[in-house]
Amino acid sequence: MSSAEDISFETLPHSNLTSPEKRAELMANPAFGRIATDHMVMIRYKDGEGWHDAKVMPRGPLTLDPSAAVLHYAQEIFEGMKAFRTEDNGIAIFRPDANARRFRSSAERMAMPELPESLFIRAVDELVKADRDWVPSGENASLYIRPFMFANDAFLGVKPASEYLFLVIAAPVGAYFSSGAVTVWVSETYTRAAPGGTGAAKCGGNYAASLLAQAEAKAQGCDQVVFLDAVEHRYIEEMGGMNIFFVFDDGSISTPGLTGTILPGITRDSILTIAREKGMTVREEAYSIDQWLADAKSGRLTETFACGTAAAVSPIGAVRTKSGGEVKISGGTGPGPVTSALRESLIGTQRGRVADTYNWVHRVC
Ligand code: PLP
Ligand code: COI
Repeated sequence: MSSAEDISFETLPHSNLTSPEKRAELMANPAFGRIATDHMVMIRYKDGEGWHDAKVMPRGPLTLDPSAAVLHYAQEIFEGMKAFRTEDNGIAIFRPDANARRFRSSAERMAMPELPESLFIRAVDELVKADRDWVPSGENASLYIRPFMFANDAFLGVKPASEYLFLVIAAPVGAYFSSGAVTVWVSETYTRAAPGGTGAAKCGGNYAASLLAQAEAKAQGCDQVVFLDAVEHRYIEEMGGMNIFFVFDDGSISTPGLTGTILPGITRDSILTIAREKGMTVREEAYSIDQWLADAKSGRLTETFACGTAAAVSPIGAVRTKSGGEVKISGGTGPGPVTSALRESLIGTQRGRVADTYNWVHRVC
């Protein structure tokens, strides 16, 4: 078997590149994840052969056998990351090493082969270079990158597959939420992940399990669902596709700890690091829904925000529950000063206007 360092990427010719005019039209107002760039990267894996056959190729449909294992037993993992147009018109990816690491641990949890981190980063770099013209400029715009891997065995037995495909695709995106401050629905009906389950892995099944709860949130007029823990149904875990932070009137911030049932967000980790650097008191601790509502009413809680790659840092203006009705957070209008300061430090680092103290920014070109 060849080592990951030996694998070279073959570039297949593309006979139908999007014209600059069409590309500009598509990028003018991109809805999240709807636009396909010109290329994709694909690497194959087979037991006994390891990772092989790495290609940068025209983006297009895949052909799968109807018994491909992923279609039946959902052996699938993915990542979400962004490439930014920097102030000097270069392109930078934010913390790809952290995504590569999380992809490996998701693979381990789902009994899938681990893609070497260096190969993950090279694959992402190859796609961004091939699709460099698709990286938008503009304060809220970026190229959303979606690496993913799935089981490709044509076999109906239940066991870890022996063949996998790893792919990277991308889409230019704007802001994830269109409104200023989002309203969230706390689901008392559904939970996302139980202890010992797959909550800390970024696997497709977690999102399938969240969709009905998210639909419930929409039906209640809310933008996102917030999940409670699966044991006591009391403690805030995270949102359908984001982590959550609370800001208090003494200037401290808190976020639920990584107990194995929530996704260890890279934005979450970056915010914790930035907040500590700013000298803020930071807690990773359990926080109950009753306490959240009480603190929002009393004014002890001054801000709440969601954070993730897609959502960046988005203020939460109101929280609704079946039993407690709606509670506004500081009047429900938009980012408070702490959310704004943390957001600016994060986005400023991503775009190269704030010093990159932690070496988080990976320049592609
Ligand atoms: N939690 C869930 C369920 C998510 O889907 C995401 C998004 O990837 C996050 C949290 C935030 O993770 P990150 O900051 O690494 O994007
Ligand atoms: C991301 O932020 O990358 C996610 O996977 C979450 C989803 C809302 C797109």
